Amino acid sequence: MKRKLVREALSSGELLGNKIKVGGWIRTRRDSKGGFSFLELNDGSCLKNLQIIAHEHLPNYRDELLKLHPGASIIAEGSLVESPAAGQSVELEADSIQVLGFCDPLEYPLGKSRISFERLREIAHLRARTNTFGAIARLRNVLADATHRFFQGRGFLYFHAPIITSSDCEGAGEMFQVTHLDLENPPRDPESGKVDYKKDFFGKATKLTVSGQLEAETYACALGNVYTFGPTFRAENSNTARHLAEFWMIEPEMAFADLQDDADLAEDYLRYLFQDILERCPEDLKFFNERIEKGLLDKLENLAEAKFTRISYTEAIKLLEKNSDKFTFKPHWGIDLQSEHERYLSEQLFKGPVIVMDYPKEIKAFYMRLNDDNKTVAAMDVLLPQVGEIIGGSQREERLELLEARIRETGMLPEDYWWYCDLRRFGSVPHAGFGLGFERMVRFCSGMANIRDVIPFPRTPQSAEF
Ligand code: 4AD
Ligand code: MG
Repeated sequence: MKRKLVREALSSGELLGNKIKVGGWIRTRRDSKGGFSFLELNDGSCLKNLQIIAHEHLPNYRDELLKLHPGASIIAEGSLVESPAAGQSVELEADSIQVLGFCDPLEYPLGKSRISFERLREIAHLRARTNTFGAIARLRNVLADATHRFFQGRGFLYFHAPIITSSDCEGAGEMFQVTHLDLENPPRDPESGKVDYKKDFFGKATKLTVSGQLEAETYACALGNVYTFGPTFRAENSNTARHLAEFWMIEPEMAFADLQDDADLAEDYLRYLFQDILERCPEDLKFFNERIEKGLLDKLENLAEAKFTRISYTEAIKLLEKNSDKFTFKPHWGIDLQSEHERYLSEQLFKGPVIVMDYPKEIKAFYMRLNDDNKTVAAMDVLLPQVGEIIGGSQREERLELLEARIRETGMLPEDYWWYCDLRRFGSVPHAGFGLGFERMVRFCSGMANIRDVIPFPRTPQSAEF
């Protein structure tokens, strides 16, 4: 007999009255005086458990089934029948229960009592077996699938950006080095005494990518619209609830597009994600709404229909200056917006998502298109209540001289970006794109307080267990 999922057993009326087989991990066992036990079985296919009735006449009842504790794995076969108990529609009357793996309750860390999220991070290899982390995993999965469906539905091509790279996309120098050299005794250039990367694996110094954008631009400038969805790495020493050293990013890039097109795409994509999870994850979202963030469902429902406010950086600064007393970091033209400013704009002033555009060029990356005022660039950040920046994007500088000048201004060499500059030499076109931090989105949609709890194995300063 082929195994059915608990989700199928609980949801499809078709299985009622049939013999089925299920497999999973015990959440609880309750022994009744009437000569049988209730086993709550979870297989991760949904939040709910399937109740299994184990009668004492089962041959292994006394020797095995009475030794089943939370965490033990079983396969059960039996009839799916209507349940007389409140709170569940069906239950499984077992004909046989095969124990695959016992679980010692004295050693198993996930007993009945509640465990803090901090503690669960230390046992991240087991935390997917809890309700919260099961729900996060399913939400992540739907958000990832919705991402592909959104872009595929619009004819975007899925582009696989390299992970190892020699260029620093954001020019911030916050990259992890990739090397094959013996760090205890690296080869050195005899004259300068510096490490000789010509002798390294790739013949030059290489890093883990901070963004797939530069490479995505090469494909956009040949194939039109593309998107990446892959891991990115940042060696920023930020110990916050919204920074990871390894996170996943979705980066669409569109040829023949400007900043307004970019903002339109960002809005449509975000609304699509909110609508899609509301439709496809109702049970898990209800759980988050009850357990993690009160009002989460209302928030998501509003955002699925929300109008986004678009304002310029200059206007935003004026508004923030009027409320200067509310901030620790005083706003004035030229500063990078701080989280407190971003949140104030979306939570207090506009009470919804805000797209801030046209930032001072000094605080943004070299590839952004210079505006006619010569002071600002065609950049945009999408801000959401609670989390602040969720998306960063821009129209790219497609004019060769201006791009080369900006590269020099930021202390880099155009030669090092020769292939990127070539796109401006050979049939340059206006183009634009953005990056959405996937974990920031999962965090926002689940209400989880810390970004470390929405990725299976978080990498943060001083922490890379597992
Ligand atoms: O604003 P960022 O740095 O933009 C880029 O990397 C561009 N190359 C994107 C593009 O135009 N194709 O990062 C984009 C998003 C941020 O808005 C944020 O959501 C997320 O990536 N992000 C992080 N998420 C988790 N941990 C970190 N350390 C993050 N840094 C950025
Ligand atoms: Mg940014």
